[in-house]
Amino acid sequence: MPLLQDYWLLEGCWMRIEVLRLGHRFARDKRISTHLGLVSRAFGAEKLVMDVHDPHVEGSILQIVSEWGGSFSVNSTIDWRRYIRDFDGDSIHLTMYGININKAPESVLSGDRDKLVVLGGKKVPSEVYQLADYNIAIGNQPHSEVAALAVYLDRLYKGVELDKEFSGRKRVIPQERGKEVEG
Ligand SMILES: C[S@@+](CC[C@H](N)C(=O)[O-])C[C@H]1O[C@@H](n2cnc3c(N)ncnc32)[C@H](O)[C@@H]1O
Repeated sequence: MPLLQDYWLLEGCWMRIEVLRLGHRFARDKRISTHLGLVSRAFGAEKLVMDVHDPHVEGSILQIVSEWGGSFSVNSTIDWRRYIRDFDGDSIHLTMYGININKAPESVLSGDRDKLVVLGGKKVPSEVYQLADYNIAIGNQPHSEVAALAVYLDRLYKGVELDKEFSGRKRVIPQERGKEVEG
């Protein structure tokens, strides 16, 4: 799949992906929100937007970006309702209560429009289910926002996101055994 900056060509269409993280709790979610950012970046999204500004999370993600490359960014918005409403593309809320991804409408997995992937932490406000274009379950069992995001992005990109080049100072030289890192 060719890459032009952060727009990926999927099925003949250029697509851009943002991830909106709702319900971040300063006391207990630093690690999981950081992981959401790292998975977003590694699996082909271009931006993480949080509903609060947590400099610790932002700093940890940007540190990885500065070492490992790419142009991934982290923002915050206090008006996440408007962010969903104004997004120019499809908003996909990942929730165990939604339609199983295996039965999702075709557009949920097609690259014809940009995607805003919405994830919760603590229980999301009920309006999210109305505001989002789609409520999609990665199976209907409770698990984790990080797992849900990874599976969704991998289904969307059909695996080719794992070949993305980041052109960073650091780069893994893949080995059958052992570890080698350039830079
Ligand atoms: C700790 S879970 C909360 C589970 C909660 N009962 C719910 O509303 O889905 C945090 C987030 O993980 C995601 N999540 C968990 N299980 C999921 C599933 N089976 N499918 C899609 N997303 C899921 C949702 O975005 C959810 O807001």
